[in-house]
Amino acid sequence: TRPEELEARAPAGTFVETVTEVTHYTDRLFHFRMTRPAGFRFRSGEFVMIGLMIDGKPVFRAYSIASPSWAEDMEFFSIKVPDGPLTSHLQKIRPGDAILMRKKPTGTLVNDALIAGKRLYMFSTGTGIAPFASVIRDPETYERFDELILTHSCREVAELAYGQELVASIRADEMLNELFDTSKLQLYNSVTREDFPVKGRITDLVANGKLFDDLGVAPLDPATDRAMICGSSDMLRDTKALLEKAGLTEGANNRPAEFVIERAFAG
Ligand code: A2P
Repeated sequence: TRPEELEARAPAGTFVETVTEVTHYTDRLFHFRMTRPAGFRFRSGEFVMIGLMIDGKPVFRAYSIASPSWAEDMEFFSIKVPDGPLTSHLQKIRPGDAILMRKKPTGTLVNDALIAGKRLYMFSTGTGIAPFASVIRDPETYERFDELILTHSCREVAELAYGQELVASIRADEMLNELFDTSKLQLYNSVTREDFPVKGRITDLVANGKLFDDLGVAPLDPATDRAMICGSSDMLRDTKALLEKAGLTEGANNRPAEFVIERAFAG
């Protein structure tokens, strides 16, 4: 559907935006860009409801905004679920197509929900990397922390590619290097179902200390370390338990503390 056709039929409280770029990474994952509505503001790390008109009805689901708050356009990652009510249609979008977006962004994976610290861990699995694609391009994150450690763990090696490309592109970007010190950012990958130099779930790599050995840093410490977690419900539960065991306390927008969690909103 073209944007002009949808304007008249769009539900109240939604923007009608235009797809500008679509990149398919694997048979389970793609990335797209769309126009950003004039006056639409959000904080890096938040999510928003994205939708399409399907059989005359709007169908929405939550998506983390993968672009930083200062960017001119908007980026998202999406999984492809063969019979998913939205993703089975969304995976067919092309540049020029219309997309609906609800007007209110929200979320806890934001700088405001963490108290100051030295080191920020961003623990992600699968499409849970999406909000961190935003956070690691926000100058505020680099102002607040000396070290940014993004962990990304996936089932298969091919799923790591978009995170690796993103970090490489940040390091190579002249404008971003002027905005903040990109050398503060480190990417740590692990794979669970294929051979890879680092094998295993991130929870196991935290529990057995391999993550800290590999990075050459001290184990988790509430005096210095802050964390954001994004993944499946099970991953959130298990990672949260490890952080709490290390003495970190969960925060929220109205009660900043040492770590925050959010379910992966990407499918
Ligand atoms: P595993 O292959 O052992 O299930 P998914 O695509 O299902 O969301 O999984 C993404 C990654 O998250 C996989 O590497 C998966 O490992 C891992 N994972 C799944 N459950 C947990 C958990 N409870 N804690 C940590 N990692 C998890």
